[in-house]
Amino acid sequence: MIVRANINGHWRTTEVWPGASLLFMLREHVGLPGSKNACEQGECGSCSVWLDGELVCACLVLAAQAHDREVRTVEALAVGDGLHPVQDAFIEAGAVQCGFCTPGLIVAVADLLAREPAPPDPVVREALSGNLCRCTGYAKILDAVRLAAERMGKAAP
Ligand code: FES
Ligand code: FES
Repeated sequence: MIVRANINGHWRTTEVWPGASLLFMLREHVGLPGSKNACEQGECGSCSVWLDGELVCACLVLAAQAHDREVRTVEALAVGDGLHPVQDAFIEAGAVQCGFCTPGLIVAVADLLAREPAPPDPVVREALSGNLCRCTGYAKILDAVRLAAERMGKAAP
């Protein structure tokens, strides 16, 4: 079947198997491997993307459901050579180890900070409860969220 979707600002037309997930389409047909496939069951959050502005697990969404809709992935966050402040904060806080969870976490944190610029820790923990990390123990991830929130707050007009 043919799926036409606006992906990171560009309309893309792709032919996929009717049962293909949005994650499979992004990674295998569109050439956007940033969203990771760790569980394919909606459990880990490593495949988080925005669908019409709403955070979803791309492994749980059929590619067909993205037809005529807007998809935004982690690849859209950096502008040119400049990383998004959340990406910078993850690096500086040492919140990246194997990195498999990182794209999904960065998308989830960017989503959170866009809605709530200075979230208290319990709100951060709740917002990221669907994103699993096997390496960091989460402390450095919380440090990264605080750092990004501080910097993005200062950058706001
Ligand atoms: S790969 Fe989608 S939630 Fe784990
Ligand atoms: S850094 Fe390895 S799973 Fe999170």
